[in-house]
Amino acid sequence: MSKAETITTTASDPTVAAAAAQFLTPVVLGLQALTINGKQAHWHVRGANFVGVHELLDTIVAHAGDFADTAAERIVALGLPIDARVATVAEKAAATKVPAGFTSSDELVRDVIADIDAILADVRAAVEGLDEIDLTSQDVAIEIQRGLEKDRWFLVSHVAA
Ligand SMILES: [Fe+2]
Repeated sequence: MSKAETITTTASDPTVAAAAAQFLTPVVLGLQALTINGKQAHWHVRGANFVGVHELLDTIVAHAGDFADTAAERIVALGLPIDARVATVAEKAAATKVPAGFTSSDELVRDVIADIDAILADVRAAVEGLDEIDLTSQDVAIEIQRGLEKDRWFLVSHVAA
């Protein structure tokens, strides 16, 4: 191989890359929003179980950032860009249920669960949609689903009977 020979920037065909971007982009945007709105909740939680909920929200924010990174880098590894600028996240991610001010832990936990559920709908759509297109991208979505459902369980356990 001569040095001048072109190196392909992706190991995948364009159809696979486009499908991965189609299904994983909403997941990235939702998770990036959760990293911001989860911090909002972390700072403003009040009332029962303060320390536990405050610290759990930081863990959930960290996980959301890791999940977003995994999904975004799968798209980029396939050769496509992703627009996850703040303005794009604000425009395209589902509106948060987390309010602006101090909120009781019980209410705030339910709000963050609602935000996670909106993301999980996109994650499940990605798992379904990628099933016959790209199993490696589907694996990314499955990993995120498993992690997000676990974080949801930790939150639910604060408010469920
Ligand atoms: Fe903090």
